[in-house]
Amino acid sequence: MNGVCVVAVDGPSGSGKSTVSRRLAAALEARYLDTGAMYRAVTWAVLEAGVDPHDRIEVARVAESVRLEIGIDPDRPFVRVNGVPVDGPIRGPEVTRAVSAVSAVPDVRALMVAQQRALILSAGRIVVEGRDIGTVVVPDADLKVYLTASVDERARRRSLEHATDQSATAADLTRRDKLDSSRAADPLRRADDAVELDTTRLGIDEVVTRLREMLGVAA
Ligand code: DC
Repeated sequence: MNGVCVVAVDGPSGSGKSTVSRRLAAALEARYLDTGAMYRAVTWAVLEAGVDPHDRIEVARVAESVRLEIGIDPDRPFVRVNGVPVDGPIRGPEVTRAVSAVSAVPDVRALMVAQQRALILSAGRIVVEGRDIGTVVVPDADLKVYLTASVDERARRRSLEHATDQSATAADLTRRDKLDSSRAADPLRRADDAVELDTTRLGIDEVVTRLREMLGVAA
């Protein structure tokens, strides 16, 4: 693989997208873009401003007014809102609860997609993870991957990561999956030409190796 190459990695929460995408980017010496972190950062700004995440007009206003900075080095990802680092708080339960409502707002999506496309264009070679990367953000990506895993396995991974109760995590994942895939604007959906990989019984290394093989850059 040489020159410009975009790998789109989509799928539900806990499917392994983040770990796989970061590792793949590092292995390819490519950039890495976590688009979920952008929606989370806007959600953080919405909550900070005391705005109701279901108030679409106010949410769009916040999204238009904030300055987002996102690091695309796979070894040092970071997110800042108006210069404030928010890497910790955007993973917290308040943001996680509100992010599906904020990311369902069409004006928010339009703003995020424009920023994502600009970052992708400037990067050259990049692995991009999210929900709508292969369908909306980069429909002509060189490789489109759709990762899945059983709800139980996804909840097990998330609860290990965040030290939370597994059955409560499973309920939260199911709620978010439903919201993310049933919203009107750019719902979570596998692109027709995406390769689907069920990671329930696959280790991270195995998934990364398979993707490298698909790209013709086997380790
Ligand atoms: O990948 P994540 O759990 O950090 O994503 C957080 C939320 O952001 C998720 O519930 C859906 C939304 N999202 C989105 O709508 N589109 C994307 N490209 C990425 C994330």
